[in-house]
Amino acid sequence: MAAEPKVAGLILKAGNPLTAPVDAVVIATTTDGKFSIFADGLTKAASTKLKSVLESVGATGAKDELVRIPATGIAKSKVIVAVGLGSLKKPISDEQLRRAAGNATRSLAGFKKVAMYLPAENPSSAGAILEGAALGAYTFTDHKSSTLNKAKSPVTSVTLFTSEANAKNKEYKAALDHARTIVHAIHFARDLINTSPLHMPPAQVAASAKSHLTGTTVKVQILDEKALARDGYGGILGVGQGSSRPPRLIRMEYKPKGAKKHIALLGKGITFDTGGISLKPPASMHEMKADMSGAAAVIATIKAIHDLALPVSVTAYAACAENMPGGGAQRPGDVLTTYGGRTIEVLNTDAEGRLVLADVLVRAAEDKPDVVLDIATLTGAAVVALGHRTAGVMGDDHVRDAVKAAADKAGEEFWPMPLPEELRAPLDSIVADIANIGQREGGMLSAGWFLKEFVADGLPWAHLDIAGPAYNSQSPHGYTHKGGVGFGIRTMVTFAKDVISGVI
Ligand code: BES
Ligand code: ZN
Ligand code: ZN
Repeated sequence: MAAEPKVAGLILKAGNPLTAPVDAVVIATTTDGKFSIFADGLTKAASTKLKSVLESVGATGAKDELVRIPATGIAKSKVIVAVGLGSLKKPISDEQLRRAAGNATRSLAGFKKVAMYLPAENPSSAGAILEGAALGAYTFTDHKSSTLNKAKSPVTSVTLFTSEANAKNKEYKAALDHARTIVHAIHFARDLINTSPLHMPPAQVAASAKSHLTGTTVKVQILDEKALARDGYGGILGVGQGSSRPPRLIRMEYKPKGAKKHIALLGKGITFDTGGISLKPPASMHEMKADMSGAAAVIATIKAIHDLALPVSVTAYAACAENMPGGGAQRPGDVLTTYGGRTIEVLNTDAEGRLVLADVLVRAAEDKPDVVLDIATLTGAAVVALGHRTAGVMGDDHVRDAVKAAADKAGEEFWPMPLPEELRAPLDSIVADIANIGQREGGMLSAGWFLKEFVADGLPWAHLDIAGPAYNSQSPHGYTHKGGVGFGIRTMVTFAKDVISGVI
């Protein structure tokens, strides 16, 4: 796997995009006044011509519309792409801009330099445009042999033209740096998720985390199978014992001077989930290479928080194991002793994410954080309930609501979920402290209840079930490609900022 992810060069400039030496210019269209183009600052002649050519090929300005025309006689570039924003009468959200910009660059694979001319009215919208544009300019080719690789290369540089860029330069510069950091983090996670599971066993996740964090002040500690056995991590070991490739626990610590709060981030890192002895059906099993998306997200998030120099301490744990049905695999009926001594009866070996998280929930409490988030592709039930684009969040009400608020600001779809009382009793085991499956109906919430059992009393906690949005097996859309999405990073970074501002 390539060491560090690629991010398109991002530039902010005042000036005229139509005379820029680029391959493509992206402009915005709207449905206001029937059809109009966002042309503040363009010459009257150019905007009139642009509008009439676009109209003649049927552009309407509708949301998500994408029209490509030759730039001959209008701009110096080869092509012009018009992205529809719908009506600008309602204030346009940063996420709408992010998606429009990403949709455009995604469609421009094969072109190198792109000029963006979208309404960047403040630093935050400028940042969102740059972020979306760079996220759209992604491809994963690590497993393509160069001789056969006909994939078009993604856009390599994006220049956002905005007359505001000079005026309030400092804030725009900060937005630009923020966008770079976030995209770097998301591309790192996407690469890890997209890598073939053959090439991404637990030891490789650990090696990738280590190299990603080299040269930072984040301390990385890796517990191998011997250390895990010595310290009693029975959940992680139980899940990993059916694989020839042993589990790893990655512990990362960011402790900046002056930090007043401390966040723990825990990620599920199942590098491949066959289900184990409770084997999954074959149809889409290959997508279970994405079952380490939570681990990828916490590694990427702690790096981003470090790069942004946020004044908050973070301890992150990535609990990595491969869930295979090998001869040494755990059996339904086995009882595991988790970190700290509590026991779990494994009634279904496919409910393995909660087993590895049980260990780290108990371990993380020893660090005395102020709040704990865990993030996991935990249940198929989450996909049934919320579909492919929305994650569930549950736990202590105030933490759950703070995560939802952070997600709204960051532009990621999360929805708050309850933990209904009656779903706890079905998790009772007749031989151990708890069983790893409960009532089938409300499976996402049962999983939440299971995790809650391992959260220290009084420790504020929320659980993020990203089973739906972590991996895009549907059509690409906005800045989201097929494959690994890199979901949850933006929400956790925003959450960290909110914790600094005192939300927890
Ligand atoms: N990794 C899966 C959950 C999953 C399903 C993620 C689909 C992404 C897409 C998890 O380990 C699992 O298999 N959970 C079981 C739990 C059940 C046995 C209680 C499930 O959801 O079926
Ligand atoms: Zn599973
Ligand atoms: Zn799983």
